[in-house]
Amino acid sequence: MNKENFISEALYQCADVLPYYVGQKLNERYPETPIITGEEIDFDLEAFERAKQCEIVSVTELHNQVKTEWRGTEKPLRTRYENAWLSVLWQDHFIDVVFVTFIEEGYRTRYHWIIPESQTVGEKFLHAVCEWSSEVRSEILVFEDGWWEKDEDLFAAIKSASFDNLILPDELKQGIIADFDRFIAARTAYQEYGIPWKRGVLFVGPPGNGKTQMVKAIVNHLKLPCLYIKTFYSRCGAEASMKRVFARARRIKPCLIVMEDIDTLINEHTRSFFLNELDGFAENDGVMVLATTNYPKKLDPAMVNRPSRFDRKYHFGLPQKNEREKYLRVWSDKLHADARLTDEGITQIAKLTKKFSFAYLKELVLSSLMQWMENPMAGRMNQVMTKRAMTLQEQMKLKE
Ligand SMILES: Nc1ncnc2c1ncn2[C@@H]1O[C@H](COP(=O)(O)OP(=O)(O)OP(=O)(O)O)[C@@H](O)[C@H]1O
Ligand SMILES: [Mg+2]
Repeated sequence: MNKENFISEALYQCADVLPYYVGQKLNERYPETPIITGEEIDFDLEAFERAKQCEIVSVTELHNQVKTEWRGTEKPLRTRYENAWLSVLWQDHFIDVVFVTFIEEGYRTRYHWIIPESQTVGEKFLHAVCEWSSEVRSEILVFEDGWWEKDEDLFAAIKSASFDNLILPDELKQGIIADFDRFIAARTAYQEYGIPWKRGVLFVGPPGNGKTQMVKAIVNHLKLPCLYIKTFYSRCGAEASMKRVFARARRIKPCLIVMEDIDTLINEHTRSFFLNELDGFAENDGVMVLATTNYPKKLDPAMVNRPSRFDRKYHFGLPQKNEREKYLRVWSDKLHADARLTDEGITQIAKLTKKFSFAYLKELVLSSLMQWMENPMAGRMNQVMTKRAMTLQEQMKLKE
């Protein structure tokens, strides 16, 4: 087989035989070389190169297919090798890597063949690349469709999250912070007494009252690697994903697994598998799980009520009048002097907004501000927002 046609000929093979075929042909070509094969998701050679851990020199004899991804105006384009034969310079070693991407059981799969000068170099190289991409380097790893991705936007959002903007009853806010701080500080004590240092915390409550904001502020505060689960759905099945998530968490511990809207991530078929992973008593030492839900009733009582699973539950309820006042004041203070509410206005609107969530209050402020802009007269905001609050209140009653 010519090198120029190597990949195109491989792609003519059906998925069942393709990996075998490529392996056999490479073996014929390099009978003395120990070739390392796999489809390891962590073998992210592109990320390794971006981090300047190696240099990729494309082999020009054949056509390398590179996929280029646009990630928005402010970010550089990102490339990924789909089908390619590369020569990689890593720590004074030249190592060839062949990538072939094909459809296996309906899903795209990228196989790699590492052709090193010796078994030891090949294995060390595989370790180095996989370790690099599996480590969370001051980034947030997001798990979606069975893959891990580093999410820079979420990382930026978390970096700027703080407890300061959160208006919550003091005992709730300080209670959560103190709970995490105490737990982190108690690591050696847990070890001394032979108790696995693990924790599950669940934030419960109706939409728009700060659960997600609190999760981000906690992640930022703890400065631990964070594995953020968007979905367990994957081509290999949810159970395989769960296994993968917990396996990674155990590798990089201490770390935090975040599962927002956990009731949508787990269903009756996958629940018991999930609980087994979560319960893994000794293995989960160093793994913290932080989950949120709007619907605790949808969760199995075995998950919510067994202390070894979610040790602590915190309830994020609708804001009380004093919290609504506080929220309106914070917003008002940020506005142009002409658009601010008076003290009486704040008290009155707080009274009118019973059963509003914080997110709904935010909506009220923003829509009132837009209306006020149509006629930006000093002192008019009280009247604009009061009227809007009454309308929204009526709409809410109609929905009830
Ligand atoms: N306690 C709060 N203090 C200040 N602002 C808040 C608070 N709760 C919510 N907000 C505002 O409402 C927005 C939505 O809040 P958040 O996403 O944290 O709600 P949530 O409880 O996670 O809701 P959901 O259950 O729908 O996911 C926030 O971006 C913030 O602007
Ligand atoms: Mg949320």
